[in-house]
Amino acid sequence: MRSFLITITRDPLGLAGAVLTSSAAILFAILYGIELVGIDGGGPYRGIITFLVIPAVFLLGLLLIPVGIWRERRRERRAQERGEAAPGFPVIDLNRSTTRKMVLIVAALTAVNLVILSLGTYKGLEVMDSTAFCGAACHSVMDPEYTTYHRSPHARVKCVECHIGPGADWFVKSKLSGSWQVVSVAFNLYPRPIPAPVHNLRPARDTCEECHWPEKFVGDRFKVNTHFEEDEANTEVKTVLVLKVGGLQEGRSHGIHWHVDPDHVVRYRADEKRQTIYEVEMTDAEGQVTRWSGPESESAEAAAAAWRTMDCVDCHNRPTHIYRLPGEELDAALLEGRIDSSLPFIRREAQKALEVEYPSHEAAREGIAAAIAGFYEAEYPDIARGRAEAVAAAAKATGDIYAWNVFPEMNITWGTYASHIGHPDMSTEVGCFRCHGGDHETADGETIAIDCGTCHSLLAEREENPEILQTLLD
Ligand code: HEC
Ligand code: HEC
Ligand code: HEC
Ligand code: HEC
Ligand code: HEC
Repeated sequence: MRSFLITITRDPLGLAGAVLTSSAAILFAILYGIELVGIDGGGPYRGIITFLVIPAVFLLGLLLIPVGIWRERRRERRAQERGEAAPGFPVIDLNRSTTRKMVLIVAALTAVNLVILSLGTYKGLEVMDSTAFCGAACHSVMDPEYTTYHRSPHARVKCVECHIGPGADWFVKSKLSGSWQVVSVAFNLYPRPIPAPVHNLRPARDTCEECHWPEKFVGDRFKVNTHFEEDEANTEVKTVLVLKVGGLQEGRSHGIHWHVDPDHVVRYRADEKRQTIYEVEMTDAEGQVTRWSGPESESAEAAAAAWRTMDCVDCHNRPTHIYRLPGEELDAALLEGRIDSSLPFIRREAQKALEVEYPSHEAAREGIAAAIAGFYEAEYPDIARGRAEAVAAAAKATGDIYAWNVFPEMNITWGTYASHIGHPDMSTEVGCFRCHGGDHETADGETIAIDCGTCHSLLAEREENPEILQTLLD
């Protein structure tokens, strides 16, 4: 033992190795102890430090030690060849007061070092866990996700709560791919746009369900969607529906959230983008299996596609990176008064200006402002002069809409990231009608529910003064 210590500590490399290894061991013991005791904080990145960085340092130290031993042996051999005695252990004589002071100082410095290292590590974790780190560190790449996130109901939920989630094992997966992401950003190798869906996203069970859970009964949701027509008056119309969101009630599930009842499993096979669904399979509580096949179920692509069990993100694929279409955005801006609905034809003109392709956000703001101002100068000179402020405000709001949803640098334009909630334009390529469009059948020719009443009762559709609202509000 004695000679071992002499050998490893007399060579500077060996000494450095011994210091690294023992400090890493102590730090590891502390962090692991914290984890065992169950103290939270530090988030998923604590795992990276505890289980990746520190062991790496430990290993580096361990590798340095034999190098030190080898160098020390060589030195001893040379010394013996020269006929000198092998050097001994440094004598620490605690009877001498200077030595006692030295030992105390070294001990105190070591303690301070440990405190600094621990605190530094802890703070480092907090920083890496923050939304700003994820969203802004690689600015132009994450700009679209960051922008849409800030406008969503999840703006206060940290990126890592959906993208990594709790526990020590997912950090490895996400950080191994994260390291590749850093490389691809540095060398400009990343795809534009970033592909969706995210195939290695952690299952919703471990992320979404930390905060929402399928057993929570939601019931029917009464919705009033306000739209504006493209006529001169921008006529305000309303669609009123009761959405049967459902959930578990008295142990039985029904309605839209029936798909995620833990009692049964709905699986499907689809293309990479999850747009064309080849086959759907349902296994009920008794273990009975029903299978529906779509028009392309016999194709080679279908045979190669893996099964995926439906979870929250198969419908809520855009819970926080919500990209809206020009129409939805303009309806919201008119409703909220960011665009003055008394400006004639503003709904139609703003829509037209948004559908033009611009090379950058700045160019878009300029182009949109010029188009809208130009329209009023040509068609309504009185308004262009008398209400210049309202026209400018409408142009600004329209420019904002463009900047929130279109990111030319990342090749993201209208509809690049479509939402699967609902059925835009009755399309069978996005949304519920990928399965509920009537073209998936069992062997007996049964389709997946297609009746409009399965999902909602439509009480009014684009009506100016829906009777149902008058009844309710009187
Ligand atoms: C409420 C949960 C949630 C939060 C919070 C969240 N994300 Fe996401 N994110 C998702 C889901 C779900 C997808 C997968 C979409 C899909 O598969 O179609 C996704 C996809 C992505 C993608 C792939 C591109 C895309 O838009 O599909 C990136 C990049 C991304 N998120 C980055 C971030 C960043 C950066 C933050 C924090 C500023 C963040 N996310 C916060 C749920 C979340
Ligand atoms: C850390 C907690 C947390 C996590 C994780 C989380 N959410 Fe949420 N979610 C919230 C909060 C808070 C709200 C806002 C509630 C409100 O505004 O009333 C919300 C709202 C929602 C809404 C309602 C939005 C609306 O327009 O009313 C949906 C849908 C939703 N979340 C789905 C998801 C999905 C899907 C995931 C997983 C990808 C997820 N959430 C992950 C906390 C969370
Ligand atoms: C089959 C598609 C589908 C699946 C799967 C699904 N949802 Fe939903 N969910 C919806 C629809 C549709 C709505 C109503 C949206 C609206 O109001 O516009 C909704 C509404 C919600 C809301 C808002 C409810 C409220 O309080 O008004 C939350 C939260 C939510 N879902 C969470 C989840 C979570 C968590 C999961 C996974 C366990 C999940 N959903 C699975 C389709 C789905
Ligand atoms: C991956 C395929 C798939 C997708 C996508 C899908 N569903 Fe379904 N859905 C099914 C299957 C399978 C059934 C069960 C068979 C049936 O009821 O015809 C079902 C049943 C339902 C039911 C009846 C549940 C009950 O009470 O028995 C509702 C409501 C429903 N879906 C709503 C939706 C809505 C809303 C969306 C879009 C937000 C959606 N589904 C998306 C496959 C899907
Ligand atoms: C599989 C479930 C499902 C079926 C079947 C279905 N819808 Fe829907 N529908 C939805 C969902 C989900 C929404 C989104 C509601 C929201 O969030 O505003 C929606 C929205 C709508 C809207 C409102 C659009 C808006 O912009 O305000 C209309 C209109 C509509 N559906 C008509 C129909 C008609 C007509 C049928 C029958 C041919 C039908 N739907 C069948 C799920 C369904």
